[in-house]
Amino acid sequence: MANTIVVGAQWGDEGKGKIIDALTESVDYVVRTQGGNNAGHTVYVNGSQYVLHLIPSGILNPRATCVIGNGVVVDPLGLKQEIEGLQKLGVNIDGRLYISERAHVVMPYHKELDAFREAVKGTKQIGTTKRGIGPAYGDKVARVGIRILDLVKQDRFATLLKQRISENNEALKRLGGEPISYQETLAAYQEAADFLRPMVTNTVMLLYKARKEKAEILFEGAQGTFLDIDHGTYPFVTSSNTTSGGASAGSGVPPTVMDRVVGVMKAYTTRVGGGPLPSHDDGLSDMLHGLGREFGATTGRPRRCGWFDGVIARYASILNGIDELAITNLDGLDNIETIQAVERYEDQETGVSYDYVPGDVELLERLKPVMKTFPGWMTSTENAKCWDDLPENARTYLKWIESFTEAKLKIVSIGPRREQTIFM
Ligand code: IMP
Repeated sequence: MANTIVVGAQWGDEGKGKIIDALTESVDYVVRTQGGNNAGHTVYVNGSQYVLHLIPSGILNPRATCVIGNGVVVDPLGLKQEIEGLQKLGVNIDGRLYISERAHVVMPYHKELDAFREAVKGTKQIGTTKRGIGPAYGDKVARVGIRILDLVKQDRFATLLKQRISENNEALKRLGGEPISYQETLAAYQEAADFLRPMVTNTVMLLYKARKEKAEILFEGAQGTFLDIDHGTYPFVTSSNTTSGGASAGSGVPPTVMDRVVGVMKAYTTRVGGGPLPSHDDGLSDMLHGLGREFGATTGRPRRCGWFDGVIARYASILNGIDELAITNLDGLDNIETIQAVERYEDQETGVSYDYVPGDVELLERLKPVMKTFPGWMTSTENAKCWDDLPENARTYLKWIESFTEAKLKIVSIGPRREQTIFM
């Protein structure tokens, strides 16, 4: 039995949804602790592909109860739609999904402000998903947010909404935007509130009771380590703590009961949106896009692709305390003669060498990655069933990642299907 935190070790889109699905067989509770519907976890339900944005991927395991923790920002309209979408596919949600009363609510003005704030950034755009995530967390920290517990109290919500809409409409007017309608927002949010009300509870006590009954809990990270508001490539980050430390704050489950951290990383690196990607490679990007791979699950945008970055991966291992590694998308490298990976960065102006990720993104953008090369395996890995089925060159490459990141390699994923997962 173990309480497990799963984190993305790069810039998101590491394939966490599939790994979580593979890990949840024995799990009783799956908890989202940060982010909102900017996340997109691709899962397969009865043969159909489905993208989850707010609901933990564990919902597909009928024995698991799912929790949207206090650290998440919830778009109630999006959540209602997502639940209805799953119900249409035959997934039973009844009594299996709980929402923290303390989670904050994403409002229509957050989405508008997200778009306007991004527009004035010109070439320095973060590439936000425009789901209102940054402004919603901004209101939370500024102590003017609306929480789920406010949303489900009709009169209180109506009063709060009136105040917040009038303040935010002033801000939108100054930015040249259209005012948000109070009546329309009230009606839509109250309909969603009626739908969600039975799921709202004190999730700290729910999870405490679960722990008393020796339940196994999995904390499902969204986005990735380098999108973390504190440790990522600021300001090109999301607005929450995507690293393992965020799991406790975002759920109210203390660090003392966490047993292991699983870090998910691709066998190469991708990034969607703005900000540095030191190992970026146009040839690799073109090749992967040509194979129909690496398009964003939430926005459909093509992801920028680069070689595996050992500096990034090692720093993620240090930051998150990664015990176990899950390496995904190995099959994306199946047809490459010479594979590269970053070993360190060098500042060519000063000659200084870096084995960690500096906090200054301007410096990071200037650093030159120093590459190591590996002979490719030039054969399909997608039908491998165990470690020994993998080509020797692939095993050498994976072993290097394992030793460089000082974490134990536990899972290798070689395709989207459940059976394309090798457990060590
Ligand atoms: P926001 O969280 O929508 O404001 O986006 C901030 C940055 O994080 C942008 O570069 C997004 O592309 C990126 N981002 C947000 N969510 C995800 C995700 O789930 N996967 C990958 N990138 C993400």
